[in-house]
Amino acid sequence: MIELKSPTELEAMRAAGLVVAKALADVVAAIRPGVSTAELDELAAQTIRDAGAVPSFLGYHGYPATICASVNEQIVHGIPSRTQVLSEGDLISVDCGAILEGWHGDSAVTVAVGTVTPEDQALSDATRAAMEAGIKAVVVGGHLTDISHAIEESVHATEHASGTTYGIVREYGGHGIGTSMHMEPFLPNFGKPGKGPRLRPGMAIAIEPMLTRGDEATEELADGWTVVTADGSRAAHWEHTVAVTDDGPWVLTAP
Ligand code: MF3
Ligand code: CO
Repeated sequence: MIELKSPTELEAMRAAGLVVAKALADVVAAIRPGVSTAELDELAAQTIRDAGAVPSFLGYHGYPATICASVNEQIVHGIPSRTQVLSEGDLISVDCGAILEGWHGDSAVTVAVGTVTPEDQALSDATRAAMEAGIKAVVVGGHLTDISHAIEESVHATEHASGTTYGIVREYGGHGIGTSMHMEPFLPNFGKPGKGPRLRPGMAIAIEPMLTRGDEATEELADGWTVVTADGSRAAHWEHTVAVTDDGPWVLTAP
């Protein structure tokens, strides 16, 4: 069963999404060489609590922080730390979720620390473009995997245009969201269109492609959370929470 939200409930989810957008904006504004990912975590927690919301990651299956801060070859679920201090040229993905009046928002951005190589910037741009292509496929009457397919096709289009290849991470993907962070359906970031449930008004889906500059193989570190590329290549992650409406996609976590 996929949770369907009424228009009023989607308004409430939008409010939650705006809290996440504000928390991410505050984190992004603080990203610079010398800042630790633990400091970024504190900023996000403060913004969320000031808005009367609750961090959704904190305590989720025992996760110890408000954000995930994944640096360079870390793909997702990097745990913020005092000892992880950002350096010029790092590429960091920040993922954040909040609960406001019972409704969840979930969003991620990838940010250059100072200046990164053109290849790293292109990786982040390709991942963001793939997310945007997925969002455009959020159409009433379409199928879930139309989104998956649009993401994969966007990556291939970027690869062909640039003469680069990217790994599309397979083990992780998007998900339904609403009264919980992770709900049905799971959304792969690749695959054939026209499969899975039909998209109906009131569904909400977190769309979150993860790309690497190498291949798609991942490993989990001994901390039980941090997911890294097996080949050590850098990764990027972009995410928005998107509602299906008769007027098209509504990006609930857009500022
Ligand atoms: N935000 C991640 C996702 O997009 C989930 C984070 S898991 C947590 O699905 F444990 F860190 F919360
Ligand atoms: Co998510």
